[in-house]
Amino acid sequence: MDYSAVIKEIVSELEGKKFGGKTATYIPELATVDENKFGIHLCTLQNEHCSFGDSDEKFSIQSIAKVFGLTMAYPILGEKLWKRVGVEPSGNPFNSLVQLEYEQGVPRNPLINAGALVISDVLISVLKNPKSEFLEFVKRLSGNSSINYNEKVAESEKETGYRNVALASLMKSFGNLDNLVEDVLDFYCYMCSIEMSCQELAQTFLLYANHGKEVQSGEMILTASQSKRLSAIMLTCGFYDQAGEFSFKVGLPGKSGVGGGIAAVFPGHYSITVWSPKLNKAGNSVLGMEVLERLTTKTGVSIF
Ligand code: DON
Repeated sequence: MDYSAVIKEIVSELEGKKFGGKTATYIPELATVDENKFGIHLCTLQNEHCSFGDSDEKFSIQSIAKVFGLTMAYPILGEKLWKRVGVEPSGNPFNSLVQLEYEQGVPRNPLINAGALVISDVLISVLKNPKSEFLEFVKRLSGNSSINYNEKVAESEKETGYRNVALASLMKSFGNLDNLVEDVLDFYCYMCSIEMSCQELAQTFLLYANHGKEVQSGEMILTASQSKRLSAIMLTCGFYDQAGEFSFKVGLPGKSGVGGGIAAVFPGHYSITVWSPKLNKAGNSVLGMEVLERLTTKTGVSIF
């Protein structure tokens, strides 16, 4: 498959068209990013790469980092993890509080904010230096030592993330957080502040296209079963209340972030990342969804 030609064709079709959407402003630091940034990177398990636009520029990966948090926590806790967090799509926005109240502090899945706060709690309970060990883990997964947190973004979210304070406090009241609310929020905000380029993110997501085995080192980070489950969670929960639509239009497991990134995988074949900061109402990149829908339509292949 000539992915490079397909991406070129998609980009030329999109040129000059207006798709709307708005950059996230509820984390003030994210509002400073140029809304016209647009990058794409696809890499295959055969080490073929195609890029477009701002694919080498680092951006705030935000919720995409929840996948890395889960990748670290799952092998540590094993199936016990699912006592603390579910595996069902929420059908609600990523920062919704209502469901958490009537489901007694057990988040629907690990990719909504409440679920990722539980994963953060698990990690800070087992790691000696949670923030530095998590960063080392992402560096190892990506094979790239330049990956870092953006402290400005983390601090900006810590100052204004009132909904996350509410989610964490509610879970603490139900006994589903072992650590202090402020410690969980601190770790969570740093996790979400990681910056990566499309190229770095696509390279890292090859792990999920390769059934849990790190492509360059050959190391099994997840078992094939854990990788299957993690990809299933991305497919059903990775786009919040738009997970159904993403699955319907694109047909790949993936994860979005309010920084405008989307990372997706075609297991056994490739990973792809798109970055465009303008988001739809569900918090997913408008152009990112458009590119990926066109990619699986034009290539005629998806997981279905
Ligand atoms: O907690 C938040 O609101 C952000 N740190 C992450 C949200 C996010 O990326 C949702 N994704 N589309």
